[in-house]
Amino acid sequence: MIETNSLTKVFVGKKWKVEALKGVDFKAERGKVTALVGPNGAGKTTLLKIISTLILPTSGSAYVDGYDVVSQPNEVRKRLGLVTVSDRLLYYRLSGVENLLFYGALYDMSIREAKKRAYELLDLVGLKEWADEPTMHYSTGMLRRLAIARSLMHDPDTILLDEPTLGVDVASARKVRQLVRKLSSERTIVLTSHFMHEIEELADFIFVLKSGKIVAKGSPEDIIKMAGMIVEAKLDSNSVTALVERFITKYENGYAVIRGPKSIVEQFSSDFYEIQPSLEDAYIALVGENEQDFRPYQFRRGGAWARERPV
Ligand SMILES: Nc1ncnc2c1ncn2[C@@H]1O[C@H](COP(=O)(O)OP(=O)(O)O)[C@@H](O)[C@H]1O
Ligand SMILES: [Mg+2]
Repeated sequence: MIETNSLTKVFVGKKWKVEALKGVDFKAERGKVTALVGPNGAGKTTLLKIISTLILPTSGSAYVDGYDVVSQPNEVRKRLGLVTVSDRLLYYRLSGVENLLFYGALYDMSIREAKKRAYELLDLVGLKEWADEPTMHYSTGMLRRLAIARSLMHDPDTILLDEPTLGVDVASARKVRQLVRKLSSERTIVLTSHFMHEIEELADFIFVLKSGKIVAKGSPEDIIKMAGMIVEAKLDSNSVTALVERFITKYENGYAVIRGPKSIVEQFSSDFYEIQPSLEDAYIALVGENEQDFRPYQFRRGGAWARERPV
């Protein structure tokens, strides 16, 4: 189980400061898939990095199975596997199995034990035939699955998956989802994703994060209910203005179909009808689809991560 209390993280440079997390109370239970969703820059990766002991929180606390990420990082690491978008953790000249063995060695596994485990895991993630192939020949989807296998080498009870299907083809993404489902039965799984159909399919519980704060939490059904009434209306394509453009979901026989919370859609048309909202509709109603506060940080000379915004 994972629990955080009033967790904050402030990144500071000489002339800038970013409050990535502003007091987050997060919880993920064993045997469940807990999803973390939110626009780019919301703080999802930062939260996962703190939980996996890669970075320290500024204030607040975080526990994995009762172990404190700050004062007992080794206990936490033993019990936790992290899968990130970055493939830099894999060695391209090494084969799939060699990568896993290398990782096993980092966890003090015996060669025998590591080999057995590596082949079992390659089988689990559908890469058995590719075991001896250098990973530079792997597709993105295969690399992601290998990263999942690697995170499982030390058989952790807790697995954090940061956008595991980003940039992955449809068939591989499906395999990843099946894998997540399979793993979730006895483990604590936290998953971030921008694909709401994926979240809808996998998540038992959802936290919606926006600008470093949790703005909603609940089961997928709860989240859908929170969004209130979602309606659609058809507008004559000619009467589409810039204002309405972002609510258009499709064009149909010369009409633009707009969809959103009733309070918004009724400003453009009185001729609306209620629809059964999807999680994606609810998500957009809750966070808005603009990435308001997000400006990507820039790489500065000297190696510091920085942003334009001055303090
Ligand atoms: N190492 C860092 N230095 C400075 N700012 C950072 C760093 N890592 C993340 N941030 C900033 O923290 C905020 C949250 O980022 P992140 O956790 O990566 O969001 P998400 O994963 O939800 O897209 C963003 O504004 C980002 O620019
Ligand atoms: Mg991220």
